[in-house]
Amino acid sequence: MHFEPSYAIMHLRGLPLKCDKKDELKMRYAELSPAALQAELKKTQAQYKEALAQHLNLDLSRGKPCKEQLDLVSDILRAVEKPEDCLSEGGFDCRNYGVPDGLPEMKALFADLLSLPQDSILVGGNSSLNLMYDMLSRAMLYGVPGGNGPWAKEKELSFICPVPGYDRHFLVTQTLGIRMIPVRFRDGDLDMDAIEAIAASDASVKGIWCCPKYSNPDGITYSDRTVERLARMKCAAPDFRIMWDNAYAVHHLYEGREDRLADIFAACRKAGNENRVYYFFSTSKISFPGAGVSMVAMSAENLAAAKRQMGVQTIGYDKINQLRHVRYFGDAEHIRAHMEKQAQIIRPKFEMVKRILSEQLGSTGVASWTDPNGGYFISLYVMPGTASRVGQLCAEAGVKLTNVGATYPYGKDPDDSNIRIAPTYPSNTDLEKAMQVLAVAVKLAALEKLNG
Ligand SMILES: Cc1ncc(COP(=O)(O)O)c(C=O)c1O
Repeated sequence: MHFEPSYAIMHLRGLPLKCDKKDELKMRYAELSPAALQAELKKTQAQYKEALAQHLNLDLSRGKPCKEQLDLVSDILRAVEKPEDCLSEGGFDCRNYGVPDGLPEMKALFADLLSLPQDSILVGGNSSLNLMYDMLSRAMLYGVPGGNGPWAKEKELSFICPVPGYDRHFLVTQTLGIRMIPVRFRDGDLDMDAIEAIAASDASVKGIWCCPKYSNPDGITYSDRTVERLARMKCAAPDFRIMWDNAYAVHHLYEGREDRLADIFAACRKAGNENRVYYFFSTSKISFPGAGVSMVAMSAENLAAAKRQMGVQTIGYDKINQLRHVRYFGDAEHIRAHMEKQAQIIRPKFEMVKRILSEQLGSTGVASWTDPNGGYFISLYVMPGTASRVGQLCAEAGVKLTNVGATYPYGKDPDDSNIRIAPTYPSNTDLEKAMQVLAVAVKLAALEKLNG
């Protein structure tokens, strides 16, 4: 991933500027004279007025596939049509109760795609987030192998939350009463020095949220060294868990620019910490969000405990949908080919977002943004203290953004700077209009602040 720590922000803090073209220096807001700043403010206010006059109703907040992506996979609905189609490879009639941990052929497909041991996999329903919530809820109620009973009985519980991150992860821990400790990414990777220090020093720290590949929202992929350090770091809590949400494992945007993620399972096994990781994945953004298939993989001891407890929760998930996915995709190779077709649809949208940001904001020195190799988001960093104002300006102009602050625990971005852009869902025309408004709002909020 290419990501420059906001040189604009660095400049505002008195750090050196990074700039290629000499004439661009003239445009950098922080270097303009008071009179020039006023003039720029007036010009941008006029642009914003034009945006208001368009009476737009656009949405940049939803990290979900567009219709073309869904249409690409719609034949999956015809993969299981007749009663005789409902027989699994082992001859099991999938219309009935049974096989609670998932069809062997579905496990084999996940194992093949993610290079996981097949017998470590438990197939879930339509949502990996659901599996994450259930996993932590059960830890609260019953505890996990290696621990001292139900987490809920402990005086204090905490979780490490790399930031910015996925708002729904944070909502799960918040709802369960688990204190969240935000740790910023550093140099495009987890800040392992900080994480190791926290995990080693405090037995209330029970785990960490990880979106290890093309992270939501910064598009970061953890380095091999980080994966190894996570697997072997000393933890004061004997039952520390890594919630490894590899949601974007195969969601590459550019052929030949694919990030590679080290094998957390192998690293944990090598470090003698096999029970440390729960590995989540789903086909939500491969087939249909809300109608895909999820899974969680874990050690044999973890699996035995989870199966015992899940057997109380459900008699089994939707095996007919598992069959649909196995029949339609066949093998990992076909899923990879399908993901390349998906990328062809969404790549131009990512390119458009980056082009508009660069054209509109590149010279102002008040914003920086990510250029991810995969995943679903572009992460925009605006001048500190202005992201909420940008959100407000966009909302008033009819452009909905992901709630500003949502990418941080408790919805609070201490810098009020990060905005998550989800380019996939809107049409190209709508995306272009929305991005132009967003760019004007970023400039206007910065100019208002700089003009005092
Ligand atoms: C990091 C991450 N994990 C999980 C999910 C949701 O996955 P699922 O649909 O399998 O619940 C999302 C959806 O945006 C996500 O970004």
